[in-house]
Amino acid sequence: MSTIKLTVNGEARTVEAEPSTPLLYVLRNDLDLRGPRFGCGLGQCGACTVLIKGEAVRSCVRPVSSVQGAEITTLEGLARGGVLHPLQQAWIDEQVPQCGFCQNGQILTAKALLDRNPNPTDAEIREGMSRTLCRCMTYYRIQAAIKRAATAMQSTRSGNQEVR
Ligand code: FES
Ligand code: FES
Repeated sequence: MSTIKLTVNGEARTVEAEPSTPLLYVLRNDLDLRGPRFGCGLGQCGACTVLIKGEAVRSCVRPVSSVQGAEITTLEGLARGGVLHPLQQAWIDEQVPQCGFCQNGQILTAKALLDRNPNPTDAEIREGMSRTLCRCMTYYRIQAAIKRAATAMQSTRSGNQEVR
């Protein structure tokens, strides 16, 4: 066991873990953050996605020791001051989820996509989201929600308000 220091959703956290433990296990089991989900455990489905320095990362295949000191954001960290992120609001407005299992990964992958490309085309959304799997086939509603969030974030920007 090693003492590992993490920064999760803006808070400094310390855990005792084997350095090779997947970040996903530490987030769920030690820090009680249940946004990231265990799907395949092989880096293939995206259910376990978190943001690390703004990049969408599959936490089931990322050793916890490799992310010490990095800023980690989970789904729990997206809303600020009780206000949903525009992507979360769009997900509600478009009624995206069915079973919901994959949706952590969908929303955080979409966040990284919009941070890179604030006004993606349909083709760019499909490409950017193509490795994040949904067994319930909510892909069309995911695409609509990303378009809706992009529009909302652009109008917020043009009003000079903060966009997270
Ligand atoms: S659980 Fe991590 S990619 Fe599937
Ligand atoms: S909503 Fe069921 S797996 Fe995506």
